[in-house]
Amino acid sequence: MRLISFWGKGGVGKTTCAAALATNLSEEKSVLLITNDPTPTLSDILETNLSAEPSKVPGYTNLYAAEIDEEAVIDMWKSRFGEEVYYILSSFLPVERDIIDYIARAPGISDQFMLYVIYELWRSDRYDLIIWDTPASSGSLRLLRLEREMYSHLSDAVKMYLRLKGFLNKIRRGEGDPLTLINEWKLLAENIFAMLSNPDHELNLVTIPEKMAFQVTNRLHSELREMGINTSRVIVNMVLDPNVCKSCDPWARKVYSQQEILKRFNRIYGNVLVIPNVSFEPIGREGLLRFSRFLLESF
Ligand SMILES: Nc1ncnc2c1ncn2[C@@H]1O[C@H](COP(=O)(O)OP(=O)(O)O)[C@@H](O)[C@H]1O
Ligand SMILES: [Mg+2]
Repeated sequence: MRLISFWGKGGVGKTTCAAALATNLSEEKSVLLITNDPTPTLSDILETNLSAEPSKVPGYTNLYAAEIDEEAVIDMWKSRFGEEVYYILSSFLPVERDIIDYIARAPGISDQFMLYVIYELWRSDRYDLIIWDTPASSGSLRLLRLEREMYSHLSDAVKMYLRLKGFLNKIRRGEGDPLTLINEWKLLAENIFAMLSNPDHELNLVTIPEKMAFQVTNRLHSELREMGINTSRVIVNMVLDPNVCKSCDPWARKVYSQQEILKRFNRIYGNVLVIPNVSFEPIGREGLLRFSRFLLESF
């Protein structure tokens, strides 16, 4: 099953590219378009009302979409991990069930669980393709850093558990082996990274031809690579047409500076995909299909 994701700083066109590609490809196969941007605009771009549960988008051929907000993620976390966490904690500590609520709202839990939600959808085989519109760069990197930390903490948890096993067994209240659960969680974290570093995952870095966006893109690219996740494609969006007016200032100066930055992108990333600044609004099915033509040659 393929996963295509869009990463980058805010306002560069991640959601537009994700929605346009999804709209186009959903003419041929079933596509799930999913966003976990905390301030999502996917509903506006598709001109529909989305919820956290994937639903078929009316007026589109075979497109399903979901906007996963934090509350929904917390609820999903509780139903997936709540009991297990309660089981482990209550086998050593005199805690009440409301500890589940408390932990579900701890910082980082919902971010980290978001990756799990994507992973489960990816594994489910319900769609031919999943297209994932990520939050602006800092948010999505936070997600990955948390996942990585969680993974190393779980390794520590296993070691600690083994060291204390004899003692813990004496005071333990419940049945079953917490080590099994901790190991399952660890495997899950590992699988999530395997999904992201899988060659079937096409990761797109979306950017614009501006100095700051250039720097953000480079940082994002190297941080992802450090985590073993490769970029498949760099998309430079909103590029002005260099032939429109060669003598109009400040337009001509802006065009010149964009072209210079474009050269730098091409030097580092090889052939980047260039999308022009369009004069129509890339929203709704028609607008998105029109926009998707710029993307298609390379997908
Ligand atoms: N190539 C383009 N030409 C003109 N406007 C664009 C282009 N790509 C995106 N936009 C517009 O830019 C704004 C930001 O795009 P959006 O996809 O929401 O960015 P992001 O998801 O990265 O925050 C939207 O109003 C969108 O319609
Ligand atoms: Mg967006």
